[in-house]
Amino acid sequence: MCGIVAYVGHRDAYPLIIKGLKRLEYRGYDSAGVALNTGDGLQVYKKKGKVSDLEASLTDENLKSNVGIGHTRWATHGEPSDRNSHPHYSHSGNLAIIHNGIIENYGAIKLNLQNKGYEFRSDTDSEVFVNFIEDIQKETYSSIEEAIRLAMQEVVGAYAIVVMSKEHPDQLIAARKGSPLVIGVGEQEYFFASDATPIIEYTNNVIYLDDFQIAVVRNGELTVKNIENIIQSPYIQHIEMELEAIEKGGYEHFMLKEIFEQPRSVKDCLRGRVNADEGHLVLGGLREYLDDIAKSQRIVIVACGTSWHAGLVAEYIFEELARIPVEVEYASEFRYRNPIIQEGDVVIAISQSGETMDTLAALELAKSKGAIILGICNVVGASIPRISHAGAYTHAGPEIGVASTKAFTAQVSVLTQMAIAVARRKGSLHEDTFRRFLFELERIPEKIEKVLKNAEKVEQISALFSNARNFIYLGRGLNFPVALEGALKLKEISYIHAEGYPAAEMKHGPIALIDEDMPVVFIATKDQSYEKIVSNIQEVKARKEGNCGSNGRRQANSNHGRPRH
Ligand code: M6R
Repeated sequence: MCGIVAYVGHRDAYPLIIKGLKRLEYRGYDSAGVALNTGDGLQVYKKKGKVSDLEASLTDENLKSNVGIGHTRWATHGEPSDRNSHPHYSHSGNLAIIHNGIIENYGAIKLNLQNKGYEFRSDTDSEVFVNFIEDIQKETYSSIEEAIRLAMQEVVGAYAIVVMSKEHPDQLIAARKGSPLVIGVGEQEYFFASDATPIIEYTNNVIYLDDFQIAVVRNGELTVKNIENIIQSPYIQHIEMELEAIEKGGYEHFMLKEIFEQPRSVKDCLRGRVNADEGHLVLGGLREYLDDIAKSQRIVIVACGTSWHAGLVAEYIFEELARIPVEVEYASEFRYRNPIIQEGDVVIAISQSGETMDTLAALELAKSKGAIILGICNVVGASIPRISHAGAYTHAGPEIGVASTKAFTAQVSVLTQMAIAVARRKGSLHEDTFRRFLFELERIPEKIEKVLKNAEKVEQISALFSNARNFIYLGRGLNFPVALEGALKLKEISYIHAEGYPAAEMKHGPIALIDEDMPVVFIATKDQSYEKIVSNIQEVKARKEGNCGSNGRRQANSNHGRPRH
């Protein structure tokens, strides 16, 4: 994911932007760049590779500026290279842009500009965007701000942009549609970023720019307008994020830190909501909608990736406890078909960031069709909670690691609380069971702590399998989505191909893959399906010899490894 950092104020912009870009490194990127308005005019510096590579290449440059924009790029249009990195100059060199998102109709705009004599130095849609702005400015004799507003009416796609200009050296203009953009409000200074992590070191006061809004900082003043050119009064939110929450705190990786934070993050997710002694469960953000959910004929959950897996876990729990049918959909599929939403349907979006475009679009679609929409989100003030009728925050704290860990357990925790609250309201849960669930929920953090004490053992086991090329994860019931999540984590982090299946599905094909070279991970908790999963383990163990010839290599057999019943 690309990252944006920009600054205008009284500080030295370059070191601040570099530090901010480093804070965004967790998002992944392939190149980095900055633009500064130094005594030498508008200067763009960019490089394929790490932010530190960019830094190292600039040691001899004059980088003094109180205004600047910086970007980390994850290639979409055009390979990772110096020339495709951001910022991009406009044709005249008067403007420089950084852009997150994708301009879908850039091809047609580019052709039109090429016919007018514009030449392009990169393969990116972002360079097309900045030239489009410049062209509008020339054609309409308008200000940059007005040209951006007019361009926004023509471009199709998603974007968060920040533009600076040679002619107005102390000015920054930002705009968004579909990609997040946060403005940090300091004393006579403003920060722009794709999320709050590069900002909180300087100020906790932020504005989340809305879609189709344009923010201009000129002469030290911030003005926000909508696409109709009407001045807006943006809400300045005070975010509670602490600096230490976004630093590694002695851990080698953010992911490891976040795995070990789970006892605390689950506790934070329960805090103020669950009190077993008093038989108390309150999700404040859902209070007004609890009756509607309890009466609903159907719940649809939309999410992507790990959050989708949390949704699958919730499906089991909601159906079991609240007896309401649940459908779990990939947001990316839901948004592009014509889903049937009926009156009274409840659509729940699950998202750590609250900014995932597919999930946001799915939620907007459901809202337009009259559904009650609820957001389960980690980032306070993000787009999903802002467009939802109601919802609950997961309170897991910032998740910097790209691979979701503590966000998943917090999502499952909040969804479980929600299912219990709805079931109780519906009357489908006996009071004793309700109390027992609350008691068990409160025990979860200490149970996670116990599991984490096995870290060394886990490390030893993982060393044995570090050369494996494939993995299978198996589980039953709500451990099936946990198996999917395990497989996703392994793929994402180890680049080892992994698949998750319901354990009983093995015999319908995938068992053909199992031999002594295939590690199989079972999620085998002591629940009602424990005996069954143990027999699945036996089945897999039996494949050790069954599928191998005397030379130890797999034999092709006519039934593709399927057991003959
Ligand atoms: O922020 P979201 O939860 O909406 O993100 C959705 C997915 O991109 C995300 O869960 C992704 O699958 C995980 N980070 C993978 O570990």
